Amino acid sequence: MQIRQERPGDATFIRALTDAAFKDMPFSDQTEAKVVDALRAAGVLTLSLVATEGGDVIGHVAFSPVTINGRAGDWYGLGPVSVWPDRQRAGVGQALIRDGLDRLRSMGAGGCVLLGAPAYYHRFGFESDPDLYTPDAPPGAFQRLSFNGSRPTGEVRFHPAFDVQ
Ligand SMILES: CC(C)(COP(=O)(O)OP(=O)(O)OC[C@H]1O[C@@H](n2cnc3c(N)ncnc32)[C@H](O)[C@@H]1OP(=O)(O)O)[C@@H](O)C(=O)NCCC(=O)NCCS
Repeated sequence: MQIRQERPGDATFIRALTDAAFKDMPFSDQTEAKVVDALRAAGVLTLSLVATEGGDVIGHVAFSPVTINGRAGDWYGLGPVSVWPDRQRAGVGQALIRDGLDRLRSMGAGGCVLLGAPAYYHRFGFESDPDLYTPDAPPGAFQRLSFNGSRPTGEVRFHPAFDVQ
C-alpha cells in the first residue's frame, strides 16, 4: 500500500469510494462525497490523501482548515475518511490518518479536530475538551489533538463545504 496526495483524475474514484464507505453508516446523511467535492471546489483541501494498492484507490482522507471563534488559524479538521468496505479493518484508515497528521505537523499546524467515534480516534491521541466545541455535535464525538501543546478554547467551525446537501 502506498499513500500519496490526490492527483487530477482521482476525484471520480474518491467519490465512489466515499459513497461506498458511508452507504450503510447509520450516522451518515450520505453527503460525504459531496463534501469532498465541495472542499476541492473551494480550494481548501489542505490534504487529500489516497491509499493505493496496485494502482487502485482503496482509502482516502481529507483535511481542511477550521476556524476557532470565527478566526482562521493553524488548526485543521480531519474528514471525511473512507476505506472500501471490503478493505476495512486492515489498517488502511489508521495508516492514512497517521500519515495525514504527520504531514500537518510538518507543515507547522497547531492541531487537528474531528467528529467521530472516540473508540477509534483515541489511538491517535484525540480527546474531547469541554472548552473546545462545535455546534450540534453528539456528546463526546468532537475531539481535538494538539500538536504543539496549545489549548485553544471556544467554538470551532468546519468549512462551509461541510454544509452541502
Ligand atoms: C472508519 C474507517 C475509516 C477506519 O478505517 P479502517 O481501515 O477500516 O480501520 P483500521 O484498520 O485502520 O482500524 C481498525 C480498528 O478500528 C476499529 N474501528 C473501525 N471503525 C470503527 C468505528 N467506527 N468505531 C470504533 N472503532 C472502529 C476496529 O475495531 C479496529 O480496532 P482494533 O485495531 O482495536 O482491532 C473505515 O472503517 C471506514 O471507511 N468506515 C466507513 C466510513 C466511516 O465511518 N468514516 C469515519 C467517520 S468518523
